[in-house]
Amino acid sequence: MRVLSGIQPSGSLHIGNFFAMMKRMIEFQKTDELFCFIVNYHAMTTVQDPEALRCGTMAAAMDFLALGLDPQRSYFWVQSDVPEVTELTWILSCVTPMGLLERCVSYKDKISRGITPNHGIFAYPVLMAADILAYQANVVPVGQDQKQHLEVARDIAIKFNSLYGDTFVVPEADIDEGVAVIPGTDGQKMSKSYGNSIEIFAPEEALRQRIYSVKTDSAAVQDKKDPEKSILYQIYKVFVSPQEAEMMAERFRAGGLSYAQVKKELFEVVWEYFRPFRNRREELERDTEGVRQILLMGAEKTRAIAAETMALVRERTGLRY
Ligand code: ADP
Ligand code: TRP
Repeated sequence: MRVLSGIQPSGSLHIGNFFAMMKRMIEFQKTDELFCFIVNYHAMTTVQDPEALRCGTMAAAMDFLALGLDPQRSYFWVQSDVPEVTELTWILSCVTPMGLLERCVSYKDKISRGITPNHGIFAYPVLMAADILAYQANVVPVGQDQKQHLEVARDIAIKFNSLYGDTFVVPEADIDEGVAVIPGTDGQKMSKSYGNSIEIFAPEEALRQRIYSVKTDSAAVQDKKDPEKSILYQIYKVFVSPQEAEMMAERFRAGGLSYAQVKKELFEVVWEYFRPFRNRREELERDTEGVRQILLMGAEKTRAIAAETMALVRERTGLRY
């Protein structure tokens, strides 16, 4: 099976990205053909500082490599190093109804947050469809927020296939319900762009402060608390076994547990969880040229696959004359 997913280099990667996408992708590389990439074209819809885009791209690559992505066993590259996807985006745009894009909640959400929409934000799902269809991916591991974009990609593939004959694999989203939406420190979905994230590789003090800033209600220490309503518990449970999560839930329900205590324990759990990967991350940081070479070699390997699809697409559409 071909498994594919991408991540935007629009800020430091966080535990929501990790559990919904990165960790699962790294597991897939053992059993399936893995396509994993850093979507810098997508990030351009919001990041217009060249240095931030460059650094974000390298940092995301180092995060993946430190966490165990093996570039020998997978396709690992930066989106813009395979420019075929932009050609495919145009071709797909011509079979994409406007209404399909107008209904996208992530577009509407950006507008409601006061971001002046550019055409890139509007056309974003078509580029994402091209990303998936160019490599004929079967399965796309993502968080809940990407579900609608996957439906758009499927609709575009089906529309293209019915117009021009069977060309694209129709992809399936793969969402792990247990980690589909990880809340941020303020209780909204954790996101790089909301300032509410807990970063995977934050330095110790910064991580502690982040976790200590998680919003809690005004319940007193002795009060019995509902764990399911606590952001702290929602985050804690993704790091531990179901048994350990249940033990913590019991302590919430019993009363006598202070939020300060939960924060202290949560910090320790998160810090320990990523400890094995931190040394590797630091080594990579000292060898940015090596990381760049890995990405360029990955792009070369990946481009050959995109080129095969594009030859077929040009033939089917009549672009080849
Ligand atoms: P962000 O919203 O932080 O910019 P991206 O849009 O780059 O994140 O998402 C990368 C992947 O991580 C996607 O598959 C997305 O669904 C997933 N993801 C992002 N935030 C969360 C979250 N809070 N909970 C679960 N999955 C998430
Ligand atoms: N839109 C996705 C996100 O913000 C990133 C993305 C771009 C992607 N292209 C993709 C995810 C292709 C999966 C497959 O998270």
